[in-house]
Amino acid sequence: MLILNNTSLKPYNTFGIESIAKHFTSVQSIAHLNELIHSQQYKANERLIIGGGSNLLFTKNVNALVIKNDLRGIALIKETADYAFVKCAAGEVWHEFVLWCIEKNYGGLENLSLIPGCTGASPMQNIGAYGVEIKDTFYELEAIHAETGQLKLFSKSECEFGYRESVFKRQFKNQFIITSVTFKLSKHPEFNIDYGAIKQELESMNVSELSIKAISDAVINIRSSKLPNPKEIGNAGSFFKNPEVPTDHYHQLKIQFPNLVAYPLENGNYKLAAGWLIEQSGLKGFRQGDAGVHKNQALVLVNYGMATGNEIYNLSTLVLKTVNDKFGVNLEREVNII
Ligand code: FAD
Ligand code: EPU
Repeated sequence: MLILNNTSLKPYNTFGIESIAKHFTSVQSIAHLNELIHSQQYKANERLIIGGGSNLLFTKNVNALVIKNDLRGIALIKETADYAFVKCAAGEVWHEFVLWCIEKNYGGLENLSLIPGCTGASPMQNIGAYGVEIKDTFYELEAIHAETGQLKLFSKSECEFGYRESVFKRQFKNQFIITSVTFKLSKHPEFNIDYGAIKQELESMNVSELSIKAISDAVINIRSSKLPNPKEIGNAGSFFKNPEVPTDHYHQLKIQFPNLVAYPLENGNYKLAAGWLIEQSGLKGFRQGDAGVHKNQALVLVNYGMATGNEIYNLSTLVLKTVNDKFGVNLEREVNII
């Protein structure tokens, strides 16, 4: 087992931030992972498990053993007349897994096309886009307890999924290494095109027959036109969550700001578009050194090249304060700050 010392994490995070890991290793099999967990170096250090590094901001060097999860493999483990149960190893690239499912005509993940990162991280924040979250097709996951090395199966309810939330971001933070995720996918896909932009895109693509492939292509087109590509400009997607406010607060804001972008929720509250709040606070395109608020999508903070994690973090603090001063709304960071 190769454990490297003083390794640059710049290639391992989509913000492209320089940070040095005290130790670094990659795991490619469960046997390898078990061996690692019983090693001296593992026990003697704190650990950080990473996938594609697309939802991380390193604000300092990482005085820990960084474990890059490279477990691979996709398997159909069970089938009924209506459903395919597909188990995907944690280190599989998410978008490649989605394309695999589309190829087999297993429906349910197509709206989540082109989300960066690995499958193992997908339950961490219950990834979501274009009207779908993984909780909609999630069946179960396997994880290894980081201290005892014991394997635990988590059902959907045990994951406590919420909007960009799960038990793994809260009480089980850093306690489990997710090794695989199983999805219950439909063999007779129902199409979810309620998210307005998808319908429009399908129309402009002149799609004659709706299919999960067509939806995936539409989502890919929309995402490519809206979100900055981390290969071109460092970022971790939405830096903040869209905030939820009670009805009273929503009505007050709506009187003051008639163009407020908000969506009613089932619980009576409203979800506000954080990107709109940030833009209306005058920060869209704002730049401090190499840290910036993206010029087309204000919810995304970017690294123009040489920004440090602290510079991005400080910019995020300025965004929080400016939005709060103008709207009295507290934004919450979505990205994991290390
Ligand atoms: P990492 O960044 O490597 O890790 C994220 C967190 O998960 C860390 O806390 C890490 O310790 C933990 N972790 C990772 N793997 C494991 C594991 N196997 N076991 C235990 N813990 C683990 N997200 C959305 O929800 N919707 C979007 O539409 C979306 N769009 C994005 C667009 C862009 C351009 C970018 C850059 C990001 C976007 N994201 C989006 C965020 C990101 O892609 C997701 O959060 C993704 O699931 C992160 O996967 P990762 O493998 O890169 O995780
Ligand atoms: N908006 C602005 N100005 C901006 C950005 C957005 O006014 O600079 C407005 C838009 O005009 C629109 C509304 O805000 O009316 C929503 O914008 P968009 O559809 O682009 O979605 P979002 O709320 O900014 C969310 C997710 C994305 C996900 C998309 C599509 C969060 C925090 N973000 O973004 O997820 O891909 O919807 O479903 O929920 C991520 O989590 O990293 C991520 C990219």
